[in-house]
Amino acid sequence: MYKKEIKTNITFCSFDELSKQEKELIEAAKKASLDAYAPYSGFKVGSALLLDNGEILVANNQENAAYPSGLCAERVVLFYANATYPQNRVLSLAVAANKEGIFTENPISPCGSCRQVLLESEHRQNSAIRLLLCGEKEVAVAESVASLLPLSFNL
Ligand code: THU
Repeated sequence: MYKKEIKTNITFCSFDELSKQEKELIEAAKKASLDAYAPYSGFKVGSALLLDNGEILVANNQENAAYPSGLCAERVVLFYANATYPQNRVLSLAVAANKEGIFTENPISPCGSCRQVLLESEHRQNSAIRLLLCGEKEVAVAESVASLLPLSFNL
């Protein structure tokens, strides 16, 4: 028997410390969150991703009366990117959330299913996807999805 310590690296910073491009991506995610369809939870999440051609794609969570049929903002935007820009790599993805127009104080972190899906995109494109997890107080920056999902499932 042996124990293994698994370490990960996440940088926490203020919005002001980010680059112009990162700020732009976060603003796009915040704006997209306002259009989320989340009548059941009231938790409106926006996602924005930057492609390697410089384009920014946005999406948000889409809920449904049959609860499990809904989908998180991260997967909506990622599946859209993979479906419409299959040749482009995703460089970074920002997530922000609001409740009744008030943005979360702490960074919003993707659920396990989204991490799994994001990780597969990272493997597919053979390069890291930088995550910007937004809160009003601070932003958490992960240099890759892998750092959020140790011991991940893979075939
Ligand atoms: N949600 C997201 O869209 N992204 C996350 O990272 C966490 C949760 C959605 C799912 C559901 O529509 C609502 O937020 C409440 O869980």
